[in-house]
Amino acid sequence: MSLTVFLISYVISVIHDSTPCLLCLLLLAELFVHSSSRPAPHSPLCGMFRSMNLQLENLRKISDDLYVLADGELTNFEGMEHQLDALPHIQHTAAHVTSLKVNESLSLLSLYTQSFRLHADWLITAKENVSFPSQSAEGASSHLLQLSNLINASLLQIGEEVPQSASPTLPVVSTAFEVLKFSIEISGQLQVFCDWSKRMVMRLKRLSRCPRH
Ligand SMILES: *[C@@H]1O[C@H](CO)[C@@H](O)[C@H](O)[C@H]1NC(C)=O
Ligand SMILES: *[C@@H]1O[C@H](CO)[C@@H](O)[C@H](O)[C@H]1NC(C)=O
Ligand SMILES: *[C@@H]1O[C@H](CO)[C@@H](O)[C@H](O)[C@H]1NC(C)=O
Repeated sequence: MSLTVFLISYVISVIHDSTPCLLCLLLLAELFVHSSSRPAPHSPLCGMFRSMNLQLENLRKISDDLYVLADGELTNFEGMEHQLDALPHIQHTAAHVTSLKVNESLSLLSLYTQSFRLHADWLITAKENVSFPSQSAEGASSHLLQLSNLINASLLQIGEEVPQSASPTLPVVSTAFEVLKFSIEISGQLQVFCDWSKRMVMRLKRLSRCPRH
């Protein structure tokens, strides 16, 4: 006999003479329902995914500030060819992304983050060399560092090795115009990276059965 059926028949049998006891029974039943529907404890990765999301949101905001142009000037740079060969240009199809396992997704995120961080650090020097303000590049670098830390820690948590990205050879920059062009390219790719990574983290949260918020 299931517990519910037992409870109901018991309730019917005592309903005439014992109101206080009926109350106890209802409380017991309530307790039983609560304890059986309590969610399983969350994976330790869930907290890290939440922090990654915060870093990505801040990075997405700061990536808009990597260069300053007057209204309409950006059109002069549209269709500009990619100059930075080592910069990740993310073009994954949805089918490719949904086929990735948790470890593969985190490895890919780790490699991209390391590469963007190297580019951001290079951009800081490039900007300083032509006397451009470099705070936004410094901010981006700092968010990328924290993101890299979180991703590395998540990989270690699931017992995977952290992949090491190759050190790219980055050009020596001598004119302010070049620095502007590279800033625009990095800014654009960083925005794509942030949007893509946020979707990846959302998927990882689902795969790890994390709560929505
Ligand atoms: C991810 O884990 C699977 C086993 O679950 C393994 O076969 C694969 O090589 C791993 N991939 C990476 C990139 O570590
Ligand atoms: C993450 O691990 C890679 C590979 O070992 C390393 O190059 C990178 O610096 C690490 N990131 C941080 C923030 O330590
Ligand atoms: C900035 O200037 C230093 C010293 O001239 C040079 O070594 C470095 O390569 C330059 N950085 C970039 C990104 O051009």
